[in-house]
Amino acid sequence: MQRMKAVTVMVKPLTLLLCSVRCVVEDKNSKVAWLNRSGIIFAGHDKWSLDPRVELEKRHSLEYSLRIQKVDVYDEGSYTCSVQTQHEPKTSQVYLIVQVPPKISNISSDVTVNEGSNVTLVCMANGRPEPVITWRHLTPTDPPTITESKSNEATTGRQASLKCEASAVPAPDFEWYRDDTRINSANGLEIKSTEGQSSLTVTNVTEEHYGNYTCVAANKLGVTNASLVLFRPGSVRGINGSISLAVPLWLLAASLLCLLSKC
Ligand SMILES: *[C@@H]1O[C@H](CO)[C@@H](O)[C@H](O)[C@H]1NC(C)=O
Ligand SMILES: *[C@@H]1O[C@H](CO)[C@@H](O)[C@H](O)[C@H]1NC(C)=O
Ligand SMILES: *[C@@H]1O[C@H](CO)[C@@H](O)[C@H](O)[C@H]1NC(C)=O
Ligand SMILES: *[C@@H]1O[C@H](CO)[C@@H](O)[C@H](O)[C@H]1NC(C)=O
Ligand SMILES: *[C@@H]1O[C@H](CO)[C@@H](O)[C@H](O)[C@H]1NC(C)=O
Ligand SMILES: *[C@@H]1O[C@H](CO)[C@@H](O)[C@H](O)[C@H]1NC(C)=O
Repeated sequence: MQRMKAVTVMVKPLTLLLCSVRCVVEDKNSKVAWLNRSGIIFAGHDKWSLDPRVELEKRHSLEYSLRIQKVDVYDEGSYTCSVQTQHEPKTSQVYLIVQVPPKISNISSDVTVNEGSNVTLVCMANGRPEPVITWRHLTPTDPPTITESKSNEATTGRQASLKCEASAVPAPDFEWYRDDTRINSANGLEIKSTEGQSSLTVTNVTEEHYGNYTCVAANKLGVTNASLVLFRPGSVRGINGSISLAVPLWLLAASLLCLLSKC
């Protein structure tokens, strides 16, 4: 009579693991032997194996289970409990399956490559059963940051532009504001936006076009803005972006004040 059972044990790295392969006899005077594929492990209570991890488990007089400590993948295989009774020999076989959780053993470090070049990404994993490796591509995302915004000089009767550049993934949408009012392409104003860049063009500059504009760059991750000034030729922008009078004019005014107050 032969029975085949399968015992599955999960081996976690660096943990002590006991595995019992049960064998229970009907008559306590039976002669019992444990064998694996390569030989006898126990004959009765005599240990034939030199492996210190293997021992008999006898919780009662009829039990002859085999206990293996620190099971590893090499222990996988069939184990036979052979029982010699007065009447007939009986064997019972157990197949031990050892599983090891998957673990990544080698993976490429971060790489930066130029567009058009070839790149090889490595991923190696160990485990039993053999792990299945899948790759997933996560699209990078970035909220917008304005990388360039330049105030510009404009002459009346001429054309002038303000430019704004922003980096963002996905590509940003642009909006323009004059002070707090949204600007659209109309009435001599033209907004042109491409990926990462936007320009506001005044086709025929008049006095009322001088002043403060705001470029707003937004994508689903965020919004940011920058302030730009369209200024008169010769006027000087202060540190905070405000318009101050051209220096000669300012000097003249100061001298005049000085004269009047007799300094
Ligand atoms: C069989 O048992 C012997 C002795 O315990 C051991 O050295 C050997 O690795 C075992 N072989 C298998 C396939 O389990
Ligand atoms: C990982 O794989 C790369 C590419 O095959 C190899 O050059 C490297 O030596 C491996 N590293 C380890 C720790 O196995
Ligand atoms: C990339 O790989 C392909 C296919 O192996 C090859 O034809 C091509 O020349 C490679 N390109 C570069 C830039 O190495
Ligand atoms: C610009 O506007 C002024 C005032 O409205 C007008 O006289 C002039 O012809 C315009 N110039 C152009 C090129 O349209
Ligand atoms: C520009 O950003 C500032 C600070 O985040 C915010 O207070 C302001 O309302 C923004 N302006 C516009 C026109 O979006
Ligand atoms: C322009 O407008 C922005 C937003 O309203 C403000 O933060 C900035 O100080 C203004 N700049 C000038 C020069 O008025």
